[in-house]
Amino acid sequence: MDKIRIRGAKPLRGTIVIGGAKNAALPLMTASLLTEDTLTLANLPHLADITTLANLLVQHGVEIRMDGHSPNGGHAGRVLSLTAAKIASTTAPYDLVRKMRASVLVLGPLVARQGKAKVSLPGGCAIGARPVDLHLKALQQLGARIELKEGYIDAEAPNGLTGAEIVFPQVSVGATENIMMAATLAKGETVLANAAREPEVTDLAHCLQAMGAKIDGIGTDTLRITGVKALHGARHEIVADRIETGTYAMAAAITGGDVELVGTRADLMNAALDVLRQAGATVTPTEKGIRVQRLEGPLRGTDVMTEPFPGFPTDLQAQIMALLTTADGASMITETIFENRFMHVPELRRMGANINLHGSSAMVRGVPRLTGAPVMATDLRASVSLVLAGLAAEGETLVSRVYHLDRGYERLEEKLAACGADIERVKETAG
Ligand code: EPZ
Repeated sequence: MDKIRIRGAKPLRGTIVIGGAKNAALPLMTASLLTEDTLTLANLPHLADITTLANLLVQHGVEIRMDGHSPNGGHAGRVLSLTAAKIASTTAPYDLVRKMRASVLVLGPLVARQGKAKVSLPGGCAIGARPVDLHLKALQQLGARIELKEGYIDAEAPNGLTGAEIVFPQVSVGATENIMMAATLAKGETVLANAAREPEVTDLAHCLQAMGAKIDGIGTDTLRITGVKALHGARHEIVADRIETGTYAMAAAITGGDVELVGTRADLMNAALDVLRQAGATVTPTEKGIRVQRLEGPLRGTDVMTEPFPGFPTDLQAQIMALLTTADGASMITETIFENRFMHVPELRRMGANINLHGSSAMVRGVPRLTGAPVMATDLRASVSLVLAGLAAEGETLVSRVYHLDRGYERLEEKLAACGADIERVKETAG
């Protein structure tokens, strides 16, 4: 298994190209199941999670073709065509679903188009229990009969789905996406209240509209979807990855650097950029994206609470914690979305961070500097927070379990090295 070696304490300077959002690309790919025509997705990131979902879709009968890069060239995304002319299987097997929870997003589209689906229940997860009860209850409200047996969700709607008024008791990105997709082919109107309005949900809604879906209220917490008989093909450019953007913005700030992030947008992430400013970074929207600088003075402690969009995203919580470990003063970081998303804390402590956990809050007291150490993480964002800490730390940091990073960060070492980071991927040695 590979590791990443970082020799830290070097400011990052340069330009980083931001890719399409992983968490937009995954639901968008499952939307291809809703039509027999071709859905073409541009600005697709090259990530392990995308390959995992592509394998699942192929087994449902989707023909997938890689059409090279987007016209802006270089590494700025790929173009993928997905055609589900015929659904070969409505079963999403355990072996494929267990690799990635987002696989459950095939459920809504398959039931809507085929009247049935059998999808393995995703198992537990490092960051929390992450049940799918909200997806199932809402699908039942659209008229599906659902049974849980032998580890599978068995859903049936032989006469199709029917629109309904659904009030989500809690904001869920995945449930909103799954049910919005299902409702596009249901009879009549569906109202989704307390819907998630993350930019990735909005991006999916825009793509569904381009495919012929009727959706009102996009970008708000109430979506109104009027079902249509069939959807058609479309071409859609995937929104920039706000979490990748935020991660590199924090890398620039933690190292006292100056980096322009291109191909991204400040309006996708105002809450995170505001926190960076409060912490002492200069953040300026540019023609091509966002410039982040911290040229003078130390970082300042600041309080952060994760919330559904437009609040501060849980997917940047580990990274902001890494940043605040070296700030002047104390910071309180409160995680409200997942119950177990502090797995990076013991690893950051091994690098000299002073962090105390109290339930869902972490009290971070800034230290003058971190020191390099061998570290290991349990999920994607926790791993990248250790990379950020390593970039700031004195000495050498070795991050293991790099496969977590490969799920969500494309060419991470290359992008950082191009800005002056001393970072490389190394083969694990025995012992
Ligand atoms: C999406 O997960 C993202 N994944 C996650 O990104 C992200 O952390 C999360 O949204 C929150 O923003 C993808 O988009 C593929 P939720 P999702 O349903 O949809 C609870 C990353 O690092 N809940 O909004 O699974 C749930 O347990 C990943 O890229 C239920 O109780 O998240 C959680 O506490 C990690 N029942 C909360 O709601 C349900 O049926 C929000 O989860 C569904 C969710």
